[in-house]
Amino acid sequence: MTLYEDKQVKTNMKNKPFLQALKGEILEVPPVWMMRQAGRYLPEYMAVRKEAGDFLNLCYSPVLAAEVTLQPIRRYHFDAAIIFSDILVIPDALGQKVAFKTGEGPVLDAIREKSGLQTLNPNGFLNHLEPVFEALERVAEQLPGETALIGFCGAPWTVASYMVGGRGSPDQKEARLWAYRDEEAFGQLIDMLVEASILYLRRQIEAGAEVLQVFDSWAGNLPPDEFYKWCLLPMKRIVQGVKAVHPDVPIIGFPKGSGELYISYVEATGVDAVSIDTSMQCGWARDHLQDKVTVQGNLDPLVVVAGGKTMEAAVHNILATLSSGPFIFNLGHGLVPETPPENVQRILELIRL
Ligand code: CP3
Repeated sequence: MTLYEDKQVKTNMKNKPFLQALKGEILEVPPVWMMRQAGRYLPEYMAVRKEAGDFLNLCYSPVLAAEVTLQPIRRYHFDAAIIFSDILVIPDALGQKVAFKTGEGPVLDAIREKSGLQTLNPNGFLNHLEPVFEALERVAEQLPGETALIGFCGAPWTVASYMVGGRGSPDQKEARLWAYRDEEAFGQLIDMLVEASILYLRRQIEAGAEVLQVFDSWAGNLPPDEFYKWCLLPMKRIVQGVKAVHPDVPIIGFPKGSGELYISYVEATGVDAVSIDTSMQCGWARDHLQDKVTVQGNLDPLVVVAGGKTMEAAVHNILATLSSGPFIFNLGHGLVPETPPENVQRILELIRL
């Protein structure tokens, strides 16, 4: 028996390409999953979504959340499943009113001043999230042996931008203004989210998550000094807080749109991998990031809607540029509802053929 085979017997990890890539291994066929791989482009998701009624109700129904998590695994055999939930379950669990309105996205009772912080209650918030942990346990039991399970949360800045703005916005104006006008109070909100995220992520690991991803979808609109304060430093604290208890669980950061700041983010936070967004040149990521961490990305979700030769060329370009280092194939952002499911199938064929 060779050393390699010996290791393979000892650790289950060797059988999961996604975990191997996160350890820095270069695989002949890169592992693949897609952000929002469970969602409205799948007819089977729409059926369950209808049954659940409200979107948050789906997130908090362990049987249904586990079912929609597994749907894309059954259909496409992705290398990883991501637990079906949302980044806004944290504000919900902290006591802020969160609703998902069809055609409008999330709507929250906005918190814009210091007094609003008192309405949030971090004590016992994990109890509210018990259904998420139960869903993770259910998925972990049912996943094929070679498929890894990802837990996640939103990064403090992105979650705060919804809590302060009350809804999604192209520029996160309200949160940015509050951070400039009352840095101390805004900092308290970020601190609360850092602490909550650490506890939430640790519990997800205990329920079966093998990898974590932290989504900072709105990191890209901040000037560098603000990026350090509200994205980079909070993420560093989250990574430290989780790794203090679970040092071997890989963490993927996604500071979407932050361009050259990805370098300092990678160097300072201690993440094991970064997800790169659609705007980033793969060659730049190879030269500046892939020597430090595993890179994940970055097909444009809209080229997956378009499909055909254009999509095939885009897939090949990413593979040609990033496959020579530690790499996970993914999109630069989530799949959109208009995506034809057969285009996703085609991408998997292109990667695995
Ligand atoms: O498959 C997966 O990737 C896991 C599930 C997942 C969802 N949201 C389900 C969802 C994940 C990882 C998220 C993360 C999330 N949620 C982010 C970060 C990533 C990103 O997309 O930038 C953000 C910013 C949110 C907040 C959020 N949730 C918005 C702005 C919206 C409305 C926009 C939209 O796409 O409809 C949601 C709703 C949401 N979260 C849906 C899904 C499948 C669609 C709601 C529905 O089914 O009715």
